[in-house]
Amino acid sequence: MNNKLLTLAIILSIFSVMVACNSSKKQVMVKSEKFGSFSGKDVYLYTLTNKKGDVIKLTNYGASVVEIDVPDRNGKRENVTFGYDSMEDYLKGDLYFGKVVGRYANRIAKGKFTLDGQEYSLSLNDGVNTLHGGNTGWHSRVWNAQILENTDFPAIRFSYSSPDMEEGYPGNVEVEVVYTWTDDDEIVMDYKVTTDKNTVINVTNHAYFNLHGVGNGDILDHEVIIKASAFTPVDSTLIPTGEVRKVEGTPFDFRTPHTIGERIEQPDEQLILGRGYDHNFVLDEAEEVDAMAYDPSTGRVLEVITDQPGIQLYTGNFLDGTQKGRGGKVYNYRSGLCFETQHFPDTPNHADFPAVLLTPDEPFVSSTTYRFSVRK
Ligand code: BGC
Repeated sequence: MNNKLLTLAIILSIFSVMVACNSSKKQVMVKSEKFGSFSGKDVYLYTLTNKKGDVIKLTNYGASVVEIDVPDRNGKRENVTFGYDSMEDYLKGDLYFGKVVGRYANRIAKGKFTLDGQEYSLSLNDGVNTLHGGNTGWHSRVWNAQILENTDFPAIRFSYSSPDMEEGYPGNVEVEVVYTWTDDDEIVMDYKVTTDKNTVINVTNHAYFNLHGVGNGDILDHEVIIKASAFTPVDSTLIPTGEVRKVEGTPFDFRTPHTIGERIEQPDEQLILGRGYDHNFVLDEAEEVDAMAYDPSTGRVLEVITDQPGIQLYTGNFLDGTQKGRGGKVYNYRSGLCFETQHFPDTPNHADFPAVLLTPDEPFVSSTTYRFSVRK
């Protein structure tokens, strides 16, 4: 073989090794399987595996997080989020586990708001109020799914077109969320929402976490930090009163670590109204990590990083053990907690809260990361 041919052969073999590595990388990164169907649309379960071998599972039904398998301090992997084994279970079960909720995450008082001089009426699905976008909010829709190619980490884009006046909200709205599962065990959720008419939006992910591994007891021993100097107190229907109250000297001060259980039963008016923690915290600006939970028994840590102004800490006060999730695990009272990154509840009726107006001129773009690690 002359020199030129030899060089060509070497280049070709390097190239084919690169292609093989690349394609095998892609093959193992995201696997999809049929999960069921709903409303005439196919629903899939996607398994995303990072280089550590840690796994998350997602579905395009409600753009949900179904499972998060991460190690404890001894390397034992367990699922730390609520989800169901099948599409049938999702249709029978709790509406919000791991779902993207919208158009308006959290509550709107009496299901009414006024925008550009016009009053809009929403369905009332939470007593006298509207919760999480109404009866058929984004949690109950089959989203389009696209596995992203040529990314550094496994990633999927879910998108949904919400027609004008869906659930009573104005504007044709396009929403997408890109989930990326990094090699540092971070779920990065990048949201983008656009509209053709002025409207209001508030999107979040409603994942429940139990760092013991779900099904292994409650979350009362989880140590929590929330970098928030204030919170928004609620009335008896969990609608903000409009006050922004300092957390100092209250059971809502999580600026230094406290377990959930330490103060949750105190005879505090707000804890009684919320049946525990079910409140929006007003995040301090310029904090790198906005909230954290740590389980001393397993060493698992969850950090939350968001560009949103608020986080709803919800401690599973309405869970009652009637829901059985993946692997038959029972979801008991206070056995999961949520850090719902968001704008404040009922903002369309509170001019002083950070605005939630979405106009055709500028998309809503936002990012939240849930990062898992262990403390030795
Ligand atoms: C709310 C709770 C509600 C739960 C339903 C949370 O965002 O704040 O009050 O019960 O969602 O899953």
